[in-house]
Amino acid sequence: MKVDGKHYRSIWRERDGWSVGAIDQRRLPHEFIVAKLTTCEDAAVAIRDMLVRGAPLIGATAAYGMALAMREDSSDAGLKRGYDTLIVTRPTAINLKWALDEMRTALAPVDPEERAEAAYARADEIAEQDVEINRGIARNGLALIEAIAAKKRGETVNLLTHCNAGWLATVDWGTATAPIYLAHERGIKVHVWVDETRPRNQGASLTAWELGHHGVPHTVIPDNTGGHLMQHGMVDLAIVGTDRVAANGDVCNKIGTYLKALAAHDNNVPFYVALPSPTIDFAVNDGIRDIPIEQRSGTEVTDMTGRTADGRLETVRIVPKGSPVANYAFDVTPARLVTGLITERGVLKPDRASLAAAFPERIARA
Ligand code: MRU
Repeated sequence: MKVDGKHYRSIWRERDGWSVGAIDQRRLPHEFIVAKLTTCEDAAVAIRDMLVRGAPLIGATAAYGMALAMREDSSDAGLKRGYDTLIVTRPTAINLKWALDEMRTALAPVDPEERAEAAYARADEIAEQDVEINRGIARNGLALIEAIAAKKRGETVNLLTHCNAGWLATVDWGTATAPIYLAHERGIKVHVWVDETRPRNQGASLTAWELGHHGVPHTVIPDNTGGHLMQHGMVDLAIVGTDRVAANGDVCNKIGTYLKALAAHDNNVPFYVALPSPTIDFAVNDGIRDIPIEQRSGTEVTDMTGRTADGRLETVRIVPKGSPVANYAFDVTPARLVTGLITERGVLKPDRASLAAAFPERIARA
């Protein structure tokens, strides 16, 4: 997608052929800074500290992290060390494990002398595959937006999204945003309600930034606003991303998604989840019971960072000293509240049979 007219991806192999460039998402929307990852540890820290974030991008970064690990030590012990270093960086997005398993399966049979080259090749494939998958999601989700646009006789289609499931969360295009970008490109009038997404504000700082740079009309709203908008017919369609979809169709995504799904259900607003197939975890049968929910530092709740009127970046505390805080980073929306799953193989019902029929090869490996 575009930043000031220039095409960017969120992660790439640098011109030197081995180091990895990534947009530092902790600095957006205030500063556009590219980080250079040169070691496996750099990749691990980038994921843990959320320099990169979003399930598909976490997977792609881990894949490049394995390539960097193979430069450092391509022995069997090095392969294990790389895997073990990266797998513990964040617990909820299953794309991390998916990418690391893909890398290990590809590299284990390769002669250690050739592992580094093979690792970069497989990591490049994983990144390219993500972009292709997202194009498929864009095409399949477009039909939903087109249908609403036709029903509204060309009036603006109002969408709502939560967190950032945009191109910054993937390698390019995004998942929830992919159909929106495509609709915008095709000349359909769209407008996106962007949940600010406390506590880290990925909506306000990342989704708004990318939609704005790509010229897509949008409005940032406090997280509590969605229900009111839905009651007043101001949301035609909600599309969110996900960090893990259980075999039964339960959807884990950024904290607050469940509340939006409840409001959508109560107001007959279609609630769709866009996902690439690596986000499905066929090993988990019940999302609410079995998906591990990350708990992050309380400072994400107590402190806020922003730019002051005179241009300085400053962090301020907004919670009284001594008040305990809780910071659950994700929640699980039960399948019954999800209208459909937009995947690269079509829009599916959120249930075991539909997921299994669309992705039989993933079941075989679970
Ligand atoms: O904690 P984050 O910012 O990594 O959480 C991201 C989300 O919850 C996204 O909605 C999800 O990863 C889907 S990204 C296409």
